[in-house]
Parts: sequence; structure tokens; C-alpha cells
Amino acid sequence: MASHLSDSSIKEIKRLREIYPNRRSAILMVLHVVNSQCGYLEKEAMKEASAIMELPYIDFEQAASFYTLFPDKPVGKFHIQVCRTLACQVRGAESLTEMLKERLGIEIGGVTKDGIFSLAEVECLGSCGTAPVMQINEDYYENLTRARVDEILTDLRSKAKHG
Ligand code: FES
Repeated sequence: MASHLSDSSIKEIKRLREIYPNRRSAILMVLHVVNSQCGYLEKEAMKEASAIMELPYIDFEQAASFYTLFPDKPVGKFHIQVCRTLACQVRGAESLTEMLKERLGIEIGGVTKDGIFSLAEVECLGSCGTAPVMQINEDYYENLTRARVDEILTDLRSKAKHG
């Protein structure tokens, strides 16, 4: 049966299994490995990871449901995560989210038809002093305004087109 995990992911998970005296403590790191390989927490890959870790799959499911930063289904090339927690909320995050929904033509949890963007709301991204904040893939975008969000979308569309 074909593996859902790449050789390098398997190697990394085995490495994590060895360095954590309590294997449960490595679950978050293992979720990171699955997420970076698949772009989301692909179920079969998580099951394989749990088998390598010799831990019950339910432990992984529970951890995954707690960490909203890990998507549980395929996302766009650019996965936009808008912070919806207090500091961002009082500085206009909700209106930016509405704007993004309108510009992209998708709801929260959706992916644009061309697969370029997906949209999610997440809890505090840990950068409350520069609210409102969103994270796109690995990058943070801070002190957002409507004009800045439009610029970012234009920029990313152009990046998607040219490679
Ligand atoms: S409340 Fe948005 S980054 Fe903390």
C-alpha cells in the first residue's frame, strides 16, 4: 500500500519519536510535519504518523481539533488566516474578513475556484500590538487596512500567475 507520508516526513517523525522521552509531547511537532508536507492535516497521513509514533490516532485527532491553525482540508496556494481575537476585532478585523469574502467570492473555510486562495479565521496570532493581523502561509501581514489588503491580494494573484 502506498504511503501518504514522504520518506523525509517519515524520517523526521521517527527522529521526533526518538528525541521526546514522552512521545505524546511530540504530537504538535508531528502535526507540523504532516501539515508542511500535505498543506493540511490529511487523515491518512496522520494515521500513518500515529502508527510510527506508536500512539493512538485519537490523540492526534484531539490535538488537531484544538489547534485551529492547522487546516483539516485542502487549502489554496495562499491560505489566508485572519485573526478574529479581541485586539484584531476592535481594530476592524471583522470588516476585513467581510471584504476578503467579497473580493474572493468565498466564505470562511472556502477555496477559490482557481485554487489560489483559501480563507480561514483563527484565534490570536500573537501579534496583538500590530492588529489587525493576518497570516498567509508562513508570512504575517500587520497593521492592515482595506487598501493594504487589496494590495496584498493583487500582489499574490500576480505571484500565482508568474510562478
Ligand atoms: S488578537 Fe489578533 S494577533 Fe492577537
